[in-house]
Amino acid sequence: MKFLRSLALLMLLVFVSPITVRGWGVDGHFITCKIAQGRLSQKAVDAVNHLLPDYAEGDLASLCSWPDHVKFRYHWSSPLHYIDTPDNLCTYQYRRDCKDEDGVMGRCVAGAIRNYTTQLLEYGKQESQYNLTEALLFLSHFMGDIHQPLHVGFTTDRGGNTIEVHWFTRKAVLHHVWDDSIIETEEERFYESNVENLINAIETNITNVWADQVQTWENCSRNQKTCPNIYATEGIKAACDWAYKGVTNGSVLEDEYFQSRLPIVNWRLAQGGVRLAANLNRIFG
Ligand SMILES: *[C@@H]1O[C@H](CO)[C@@H](O)[C@H](O)[C@H]1NC(C)=O
Ligand SMILES: *[C@@H]1O[C@H](CO)[C@@H](O)[C@H](O)[C@H]1NC(C)=O
Ligand SMILES: *[C@@H]1O[C@H](CO)[C@@H](O)[C@H](O)[C@H]1NC(C)=O
Ligand SMILES: *[C@@H]1O[C@H](CO)[C@@H](O)[C@H](O)[C@H]1NC(C)=O
Ligand SMILES: *[C@@H]1O[C@H](CO)[C@@H](O)[C@H](O)[C@H]1NC(C)=O
Ligand SMILES: [Zn+2]
Repeated sequence: MKFLRSLALLMLLVFVSPITVRGWGVDGHFITCKIAQGRLSQKAVDAVNHLLPDYAEGDLASLCSWPDHVKFRYHWSSPLHYIDTPDNLCTYQYRRDCKDEDGVMGRCVAGAIRNYTTQLLEYGKQESQYNLTEALLFLSHFMGDIHQPLHVGFTTDRGGNTIEVHWFTRKAVLHHVWDDSIIETEEERFYESNVENLINAIETNITNVWADQVQTWENCSRNQKTCPNIYATEGIKAACDWAYKGVTNGSVLEDEYFQSRLPIVNWRLAQGGVRLAANLNRIFG
C-alpha cells in the first residue's frame, strides 16, 4: 500500500511537473538547418553527406533536433543549449556568463559551438578522438539555439522558463512561446500549417529584403570559423528588446505581441541558417 502510494505520487510528479525545454522547437531547428543546407558549398555537402548516418539520406535538417532527444542520455550536454546572463543587464560576456551551474567555464551554448567547430576541423585530416557525426549534429543544433533570443536570457527566470503567460487562450511559459508558439501560429495563419512554405518565404527574404545584411551575418572577426560571442550578444539584446519587453508573470499575449515579434523570429531563423552554412563552409572549405 505504502509502496503503491509512493508510486502514485511519483507518477503524479513526473506527469505534472512542467517540462521545460530549452531551444527552438522541432520546427525552428528544422527551418535553420534547411536554410543552411541550401547554402552549402560542394565540399561542405560532401562532408555532411559523409558524416550523416545513411538513414538521414543526406538531409541534415531531419536530425537537427537530435541533441534535444539525447539531453537525458547525455546528461552532460544539457547546459550546452543556452546561456544564463545576469538579470536585467541585457549584456553577455563570455568570461562572465559562459559556464554551467557548477561554474565550469565554457559550458554554455557559445562554448559548445566553439568546441564542436574545433572537433569538425579534424574532418578528413586525422583520425579524430571524437564522434564527428555527433559534432555535426550538435553544432547544427546549437547554431539554432543561440539564435533563439531567450536562449541567452536571464538567470533567475531561466530564460523565460518560469514566466507563466497565456498564449492567446492557452497557458504557456514565455520560453515556449519563443521556441514554438510564435512559429506554430505563424504557420497556421499564413502558411497552411506547412513548414516548407514558411522556409520558402524566409529564403525569399534572405535573397531580397535582407540581401544587404547577409554578408555581415556571415562575417566573423579575425578569420575565425565561427563567432558565437556575436550571436549571443545579439541574442540577449533581442531578448530584452522583444521577448521580455512588456511581459510580466501572468501576461496575456495575443495579436499585438504576435504581430510585432514575428519579424524578429523570422529574422533570427534566417540568421541562424545563413550562419550555420557559413560556418560549415569555412570548416570544410
Ligand atoms: C565538447 O565535446 C565533447 C564531446 O562531445 C564533450 O564531452 C564536452 O562536454 C564538450 N564541451 C563543450 C563545452 O561543449
Ligand atoms: C557516432 O554517434 C552516432 C550517434 O550517437 C552513433 O550512432 C554512431 O554509432 C557513433 N559512431 C561511432 C563510430 O561511434
Ligand atoms: C510566476 O508565477 C508562478 C506561479 O505563481 C511562480 O511559480 C513563478 O516563480 C513566477 N515567476 C516569476 C519570474 O516570478
Ligand atoms: C519577408 O519580408 C516582408 C517585407 O519586409 C515581410 O512583410 C514578411 O513578413 C517577411 N516574411 C518572412 C517569412 O520573413
Ligand atoms: C567583416 O568583418 C571585418 C573584420 O571585423 C570588417 O573589417 C569588415 O568590414 C566586415 N565586413 C562586412 C561585410 O561586414
Ligand atoms: Zn536545444
